[in-house]
Amino acid sequence: MKILAVESSCDETAVAIVEDGRRVLTDCIASQVELHKLYGGVVPEIASRKHIEAIYGLADQALETAGLCRGDLDAVAVTYAPGLIGAVLVGVNFAKAAALALDVPLIPVHHIRGHIAANYLAYPDLEPPFLCLVVSGGHSLIVDVEDYTVFHILGSTRDDAAGECFDKVARVLGMPYPGGAALDRMAQSGDETRYPMPHTKLSGNPLDMSFSGLKTAALNLIHNSQQKGEELDIPSLCASFSLAVSEMLVPRTMEALRQTGRTKLAIAGGVAANSRIRGDFQRETAKLGVSLYMPPLKLCGDNGAMIGAQAYYEYLAGVRAGQDLNAYATMPIDR
Ligand code: KG4
Ligand code: ZN
Repeated sequence: MKILAVESSCDETAVAIVEDGRRVLTDCIASQVELHKLYGGVVPEIASRKHIEAIYGLADQALETAGLCRGDLDAVAVTYAPGLIGAVLVGVNFAKAAALALDVPLIPVHHIRGHIAANYLAYPDLEPPFLCLVVSGGHSLIVDVEDYTVFHILGSTRDDAAGECFDKVARVLGMPYPGGAALDRMAQSGDETRYPMPHTKLSGNPLDMSFSGLKTAALNLIHNSQQKGEELDIPSLCASFSLAVSEMLVPRTMEALRQTGRTKLAIAGGVAANSRIRGDFQRETAKLGVSLYMPPLKLCGDNGAMIGAQAYYEYLAGVRAGQDLNAYATMPIDR
């Protein structure tokens, strides 16, 4: 089954064609990052306008690069939540028109479910149940993936998302948006013990996370040193900060594995590209004898292929949308 999958929830317009949820026939992306860099973050109105400009051409490009024609498509899938509402709407409206014109089913896909499904593309043998840590610009969740369309949130951030914090600290350090990857690179040559970061204590669910205290501590350190005219060791600050984020994510995820008894761990979302976090998971899962699944970097960030992968399993579960499909800025993954 060949699914045309559309993703437009943030600053990447993406159209992919995925066969049977596992085989990527083409994965086209038009990134707007260079444009939003000028403003230090995503400007929602500009994102929507750029999606409109890109999406039709990108769909044609997807067919062409896959060597397919419109009649070869069996369904159209689209991210319908969560995301920047105007941006998501562009994809939803395009997908509705495409499904209507091609007379094929329309499959709505939750963006975060898509991030998790990126693992099915990277690992053809991976099947639920497994545990997944989803860390992106907008979400930080520990999810039990009981089945392809059955999810349980075991822990989540109480405040900021991990990616948001990486981006904020990177921005104050003068790195261009989105700064997570640049901060990661800078951290490679730093000393992670140089700037000890606070460890936020949380009451209640031990699998919940918090990043705002960490972010504030890093920002205060930067501002204080600027005010005093002291030179900061930026690589070491990046390394110390990355270590602290990893120490928020990795032990909680390992605890979730112990609690659930799951023997497989996947990671997903843009922050899953972080080298420190990947390295820490490799070490810790090896100790526990748990299989670790980490998508390649290009499947960690937003893309259309991950939407096509999840769409196949949503389709098998009977999920369909009509022409009244709406877009939603927020929506829980386990609805
Ligand atoms: O999943 P994603 O592409 O978009 C959302 O759905 O939010 O995630 C984007 C986030 C950004 O905050 C970006 O800075 C972060 O992922 N990111 C990283 C790295 N690569 C991307 N954060 C830390 N280290 C990285 N190597
Ligand atoms: Zn995303």
